[in-house]
Amino acid sequence: MENCRLVSIILFVHTIISISSINCTENNSKFITNQAALFVFGDSLFDPGNNNYINTTNRANFFPYGQTFFKFPTGRVSDGRLIPDFIAEKAWLPLIPPNLQPSNSNSQFTYGVNFASAGAGALVESFSGQVIDLGTQLNSFKNVKRRLISALGETEAKRIFSRAVYLFNIGGNDLFYALFQTSSLVNLNAKERLVEFIIGNTTSVVKEVYKMGGRKFGFLNVGPYDCAPGARILDIANIESCNKPVTELIDLHNKKFPDGLKRLQRELSGFKYAFHDYRTSLLQRINNPSKYGFKEGKMACCGSGPLRGTPTCGMNQTGQSYELCEDVTDYLFFDSAHLTEKAHRQIADLIWSGPPNVTGPYNLKALFEIN
Ligand SMILES: *[C@@H]1O[C@H](CO)[C@@H](O)[C@H](O)[C@H]1NC(C)=O
Ligand SMILES: *[C@@H]1O[C@H](CO)[C@@H](O)[C@H](O)[C@H]1NC(C)=O
Ligand SMILES: *[C@@H]1O[C@H](CO)[C@@H](O)[C@H](O)[C@H]1NC(C)=O
Ligand SMILES: *[C@@H]1O[C@H](CO)[C@@H](O)[C@H](O)[C@H]1NC(C)=O
Ligand SMILES: *[C@@H]1O[C@H](CO)[C@@H](O)[C@H](O)[C@H]1NC(C)=O
Ligand SMILES: *[C@@H]1O[C@H](CO)[C@@H](O)[C@H](O)[C@H]1NC(C)=O
Repeated sequence: MENCRLVSIILFVHTIISISSINCTENNSKFITNQAALFVFGDSLFDPGNNNYINTTNRANFFPYGQTFFKFPTGRVSDGRLIPDFIAEKAWLPLIPPNLQPSNSNSQFTYGVNFASAGAGALVESFSGQVIDLGTQLNSFKNVKRRLISALGETEAKRIFSRAVYLFNIGGNDLFYALFQTSSLVNLNAKERLVEFIIGNTTSVVKEVYKMGGRKFGFLNVGPYDCAPGARILDIANIESCNKPVTELIDLHNKKFPDGLKRLQRELSGFKYAFHDYRTSLLQRINNPSKYGFKEGKMACCGSGPLRGTPTCGMNQTGQSYELCEDVTDYLFFDSAHLTEKAHRQIADLIWSGPPNVTGPYNLKALFEIN
């Protein structure tokens, strides 16, 4: 009963609608401990505030980030909730906390933890020193595993890991870093090698999680960041177009990534996954915002300059001035490269319950339901 009330309150904060389907007279201690956990790895699309706890300038812990839902800046690079927040809600889980949040307890870890870090890539080189790269995120997961085993015992901890869903979004920052911060991309060979490294490093992390008992995985491909306001203004004469060099790299990556997942499925028995073509679903919204309930698909809500594509959102206090839109629900992009809560909710819906041509071979709902 104690647990039941706790979860009711948490869910109430999330959504008033979902509370009606909770039946507190049922055996809810069973209901709760049977929930499959959610472990999250990735970059700013998924980071609920881990970067607040590392030494980096790559943060969003200031106004006007976080205003829509939390009413304070949590570190999420958006006006409100992120995709994993919506997935947790749909899976009847509480909000999944950032791994580095000091108040975390072992009991919270039984619902899962979020290791994502804004700016992170699959490669250690990408924005090194400013982010928690994917390999380090995996090491943090190994620590959580040790803590859970010592708190709950081997058997119960293993049960949690095998039933849990592991959600990944990584790779976009590696492409940006290689393109703009290094001079290594001299030809197609170099680009193909880069993409092989990204996919190779991502799949090795997945294999490690599998070795630790993980069986159910969710993946997004790299989103259309070539068409984000911040990328469009890199070529100011062609602001109506997406940034070509970035498009080429993303396409190269996204063409090969599904093969990497199919290889994992062949190699790892019992490996099940949901793959969402995030690039396509976001591009549809960028190109046809009104069809999806937005007024603006190209310009950011918050920032400065053309398309508000200069990443100055929230930086008035440091002497730069920026603009903030009046109604954030009109916009797909909140800042130069990150989406609004409204956009996150739509994408989360597609990952959660999309038909097989949108999210496959499984969707997340099916993965959470499998024992
Ligand atoms: C709640 O669950 C109990 C026990 O399973 C059942 O008797 C009761 O009818 C349920 N109430 C509602 C509102 O579903
Ligand atoms: C509720 O579930 C727990 C765990 O499965 C079990 O130990 C307990 O006896 C159940 N209580 C009731 C009232 O059914
Ligand atoms: C944080 O990083 C900056 C720049 O990289 C460095 O100058 C500073 O010493 C670091 N601070 C701590 C506490 O490590
Ligand atoms: C991972 O990336 C590094 C470069 O950071 C590369 O040297 C290594 O070969 C990659 N590993 C795999 C398995 O692709
Ligand atoms: C930022 O400052 C400029 C002037 O310096 C002002 O016009 C603008 O409204 C401010 N933006 C916000 C969101 O406060
Ligand atoms: C998926 O299939 C449905 C019909 O089954 C169709 O309406 C929809 O456009 C398809 N979506 C994609 C992304 O192909």
